[in-house]
Amino acid sequence: MKILGILGSPRIKGNSDILLSRALAGAKEAGAKVEKIILDRKQISGCKDCKKCNKTGICVIRDDMSEIQGKILDAYAVIHASPVYFWSMTAQMKAYLDRWCVFFAADWSWQKAYYPQMKGKRIGLITVCGDTNVHTADPVVHSFKSTAQMTGMHWLGDVMAAAGDKGEIAQNAKALQEAFDLGRKAATP
Ligand SMILES: Cc1cc2nc3c(=O)[nH]c(=O)nc-3n(C[C@H](O)[C@H](O)[C@H](O)COP(=O)(O)O)c2cc1C
Repeated sequence: MKILGILGSPRIKGNSDILLSRALAGAKEAGAKVEKIILDRKQISGCKDCKKCNKTGICVIRDDMSEIQGKILDAYAVIHASPVYFWSMTAQMKAYLDRWCVFFAADWSWQKAYYPQMKGKRIGLITVCGDTNVHTADPVVHSFKSTAQMTGMHWLGDVMAAAGDKGEIAQNAKALQEAFDLGRKAATP
C-alpha cells in the first residue's frame, strides 16, 4: 500500500511540509509505504482545456505531471498540503489539480481506463494559513472536497492549521497530531 503526499508549498521544511511529513509518518506507522512529491521542484504547466484528454486519457502537455498521474493511479491514498495564498491554494497546487482533467471524460465521469483505480480513491488535505482563523482556508477545502464529492472519491478529511513563520507549526501539538491521524486513517482500510 502506497500513500502519496503532495506538497504545494515552495517552502521546504515550512509549515505545510512539516504537517505533510507528520501525515506520512502516520501512514508509515499504519504499515504503508510513503512518498512525498514537492510540486515546486517539478515542471507542471496549467491545463490548456484542449479537451484531447477527454477522448484519449492522455494529456498533450509533456511535463512532470504524466509521471505524477501514474503515481496517483497507483496510490492507495493521496494527501495534499497547501498553504493559503490569497484565500486560495498555491499556484503550484492549482496547476497540479487542474491537470487532473486527464482522468476524466467530457462529462466529468472517470475515464474508463482509470475508473478502477480512481473510483473511491482516498483523498485528504492539509491547509496552513497565516491568519489565526483557520477558516481562511475554507475555499481550499471547498475545492478539494467538492472535487472528491463530485467524482465519488473517498474524502478522508482535512487538517486546517494556522501559522505564519517558517516552521512555526512545529509548536502546534494539536495540528501535528491531527496530521499524524489523517495519515494513519489514509492507510487504514
Ligand atoms: C504569496 C502569499 C500569499 C499569502 N496569502 C495569505 C492569505 O490570503 N491568507 C492567510 O491567512 N495567509 C496568507 N499567506 C501566509 C501563508 O499562508 C503562511 O505564511 C503559511 O504558514 C505558509 O505555509 P508554508 O510554510 O507551508 O509555506 C500568504 C503567504 C504568501 C507567501
